[in-house]
Amino acid sequence: METTDIKEHLVLVTGAASGIGKEIATSFIRRGAVVAACDKNLAELQKIKNEVKSENFHIFEVDFVSESSILGCVDKVQSDLGPLKAVVNCVGILGKNGEKVEDVDIDDFDLVYAINLRGALILTKAVIKGMADRGYGRILHLASISGKEGNPLLVAYSATKAGLIGLVKSVGKEYATTGVTINSMAPALIHSPMTESFSEAQLKSLKSRIPMERLGKTSEVADMAAWIISPACSFTTGFAFDLSGGRATY
Ligand SMILES: NC(=O)c1ccc[n+]([C@@H]2O[C@H](COP(=O)([O-])OP(=O)(O)OC[C@H]3O[C@@H](n4cnc5c(N)ncnc54)[C@H](O)[C@@H]3O)[C@@H](O)[C@H]2O)c1
Repeated sequence: METTDIKEHLVLVTGAASGIGKEIATSFIRRGAVVAACDKNLAELQKIKNEVKSENFHIFEVDFVSESSILGCVDKVQSDLGPLKAVVNCVGILGKNGEKVEDVDIDDFDLVYAINLRGALILTKAVIKGMADRGYGRILHLASISGKEGNPLLVAYSATKAGLIGLVKSVGKEYATTGVTINSMAPALIHSPMTESFSEAQLKSLKSRIPMERLGKTSEVADMAAWIISPACSFTTGFAFDLSGGRATY
């Protein structure tokens, strides 16, 4: 039986300055992992580091719009702390919210693509070969229910999250025999700073589609993530884990 223990595992968590990424990074510290918390918001990471007060919590700046920044960040993490056992990618932006496709701003679409999908590909490329050479690794990307079902007035977000689910399915098959798994999670609405930007009407409509009739909690995402990146989750790759209060049971 493989263990769910991630003690002393070096885990790189992106988007760690807020919401889901922050919860994942800090809860992994409580589970005994060594965390490389990465984000473009270094000031917020520093605040979290001061609160966490753990020698296992390390912070690194990264900007997901830049390939060299992502590669530089992965290099620095591994040269400072050693080989990565796992990566949890929580960087993501909604982009302009509430516009019909006929009004979509192409520059905004490009930015959402660069951060949500291109950045995820660059990060995957940067870490996966080393993991495969070592015969073990766990990669987990935060996709979204929007990528499975498509949410109206969120075309850039929905399309890039669907792309991310496709990326994970493709790479999962490529690396299936290497000891490296790559999966995504597809949450419905989770209470976080990201959802605070939704209008009342959008929140009501999205919540009404969740059979449990509530938003998810960041702790629920972190608990599932901890299992997915543990040695115990060993026979699942290329999968989009559901986390939707019963909305998307497929
Ligand atoms: N909150 C939800 O309801 C929900 C649902 C489904 C999926 N998700 C996904 O989960 C992930 C985390 O969401 P969240 O709600 O915690 O969002 P959030 O907005 O609270 O946090 C996102 C983090 O990403 C960082 N970031 C943004 N652009 C960046 C860039 N260019 N380079 C580096 N870092 C950057 C931000 O600084 C922030 O710390 C996202 O990928 C999101 O799409 C969220």
